[in-house]
Amino acid sequence: MAERLIIFDTTLRDGEQSPGISLDVAEKLEIAEQLARLGVDYIEAGFPVASQGDFEAVQAVARSVHGPVIAGLSRTHIADVDRCWEALKDADRGRIHVFISTSPQHMEHMLKMTEAQVLEQTKAGVARAREHTDDVEFSPQDATRTPLDFMMEVLQTAVDAGATTLNIPDTVGYGIPWDFGALIQYIRRNIKGDYITSTHCHNDLGLATANSLAGVQAGARQVEVCVNGLGERAGNAALEEVVMAVRIRADQFPEIEVGVNTEELARTSRLVARLTGYPVQYNKAVVGRNAFAHESGIHQHGVLADRSTYEIIDAESVGQQGRQIVLGKHSGRHAFADTLKRIGLHVQGDALNAAFVRFKELADRKVEITEADLEAIVAEEIGDVASEPTFTFEALEVTGGTVGVPRARVVVTRSGEKTEASAEGDGMIDASCKAIKAATGVDAKLTDFNVSSVTGGIDALGDVVVQIEAGEFRVSGRGVSTDVVEASARAYLNAVNRLVRVQARNEVKPPEATP
Ligand code: KIV
Ligand code: ZN
Repeated sequence: MAERLIIFDTTLRDGEQSPGISLDVAEKLEIAEQLARLGVDYIEAGFPVASQGDFEAVQAVARSVHGPVIAGLSRTHIADVDRCWEALKDADRGRIHVFISTSPQHMEHMLKMTEAQVLEQTKAGVARAREHTDDVEFSPQDATRTPLDFMMEVLQTAVDAGATTLNIPDTVGYGIPWDFGALIQYIRRNIKGDYITSTHCHNDLGLATANSLAGVQAGARQVEVCVNGLGERAGNAALEEVVMAVRIRADQFPEIEVGVNTEELARTSRLVARLTGYPVQYNKAVVGRNAFAHESGIHQHGVLADRSTYEIIDAESVGQQGRQIVLGKHSGRHAFADTLKRIGLHVQGDALNAAFVRFKELADRKVEITEADLEAIVAEEIGDVASEPTFTFEALEVTGGTVGVPRARVVVTRSGEKTEASAEGDGMIDASCKAIKAATGVDAKLTDFNVSSVTGGIDALGDVVVQIEAGEFRVSGRGVSTDVVEASARAYLNAVNRLVRVQARNEVKPPEATP
């Protein structure tokens, strides 16, 4: 009988800890619904004690996403554990994930606790979690830099207190595959009790996927992963890589089954990229836009003769052939709404109206609108319509070139009130951002700018992602248009809107509560 490899997705928790990502409740819900469609087993929806926003997001996911088990992260403090369960308790099934640092570096510089205190906290936190649910995960943070004997003592304490999953975090990405695999094997052999072993590998040395697979080979039956490999610093093991490695090299993982609908991988990746503002590198394994592109004549010849000559994955099996044309300029509102529904984009009310208006505008300039274009339009509009009143983009006029100073005039509205401003800049994009600053009165520094095209072709939509910073807040925004200057202005305004919302919620995670 095949054993299930549990896919524990932590995009909404560890992934959201990537610098500059701040997802609001609506965005977390949208990603969680897509993760459920993808068929992951667990969704770690957040760290409820970190902020009110995170608490509400975990609660919203727990209440309305069905299929996967919903997990929340918690420190060992009793109050944290209770708060975590408060957010999770309406889920069909909920898991509390309790963690505490165990490495000398963390214990000395962060926790300021002795080994005896860490053991005591582990026991108390896990036992409290078990009073709420019989699905409790325990993680010794920075496990790979923790002295082995002490870590074994902590793990046995956690199992004895009721932990049902032991997660081994390579928090700083220090592991090497054979070493990490040996650690998992040692734990499996020496910790007594009924538990599942899990991997949680960071990518500081580019080894997160390899280390996770070594863990599976050594007996781990849960992998903690993030879509597009998001996560702290260099990120976590990428969900799509681990899943496809196990599927494609089933010979190396005999008797293991993964319950993911791989056809949803590309769409999940695009959605996460858009909502987080983290673009996917072109040559990213499995979900990169070039993952199935063949450049040299010899390769093209081979693939045309037979796909297997240079491809080990069928592009359709990971949803990478979903670029078909779905709508054109003559398509009406019904066709638009039906198409969104068919491709799994659930948009209603104001967001649907706004997305339809944008679709019509773009269809006038671009003959064929593809599934990927639609996702980009809807993602941009949902981001702006989702919550409190924000600025709406009305018009942009720019002049530039090699003669004269580039200028921009922008018109925005907020709660029906129109504001117009003009500015000069180093270029048309710079002038547009400055005009938006003047029109909205929101001062922020542009820290990152990235432009790509949604699909190929001369009339492709430009997809711009920006990051802006104001004081302690850093947020991203995105915009799409056939014109990259307009897409840039939209992305900048989108980021301004998020900044206004984040500042209003004052949603900054207290540093001492951040794992
Ligand atoms: O990397 C890490 O150690 C974590 C834990 C909280 C599991 O994310
Ligand atoms: Zn982590």
